[in-house]
Amino acid sequence: MEHPATLSFRGTVVHGDKRGRELGFPTANIAVIDHGALPVDGVYACWVTFPPATVPHGATISIGDNPTFDDVTDRRVEAFVHDFDGDLYGAEVEFTVHSWLRGMFRCESLDELIEKTAADVAASRIALAQPARRP
Ligand SMILES: Cc1cc2nc3c(=O)[nH]c(=O)nc-3n(C[C@H](O)[C@H](O)[C@H](O)COP(=O)(O)O)c2cc1C
Repeated sequence: MEHPATLSFRGTVVHGDKRGRELGFPTANIAVIDHGALPVDGVYACWVTFPPATVPHGATISIGDNPTFDDVTDRRVEAFVHDFDGDLYGAEVEFTVHSWLRGMFRCESLDELIEKTAADVAASRIALAQPARRP
């Protein structure tokens, strides 16, 4: 086998509830175009490409209905793009999943959510520094 299949999906960056910035992890909310390509709910290390950049950025994404917040009832895709603080609203983005990090949890407090997210981003950076596939 040359390469195992990669999991990719595309979308457009839309406005979310703007809670991410307050939590210290501003996220790009993604309106996904090809829902069939989405993996199961959880937190993932990904590569994300958006124009005009051709080199992918690392990102940590969450997929799910944000169970910590009772007012979120839809399934969302939110991306914390590493080392990036530009405005992505309206941008078309493409994600390639590198690795699964954990499932979605209902956190008991905002502090717990912030702690978990910080640990996810640290784990994601380590994962993305590894080769994605076996040789
Ligand atoms: C790496 C990462 C992990 C997350 N994990 C969870 C989680 O376990 N539970 C949860 O309810 N929300 C989780 N979220 C989603 C946050 O609740 C969400 O990003 C935050 O509320 C900001 O949303 P907003 O941009 O719509 O305001 C996670 C987000 C990120 C980026």
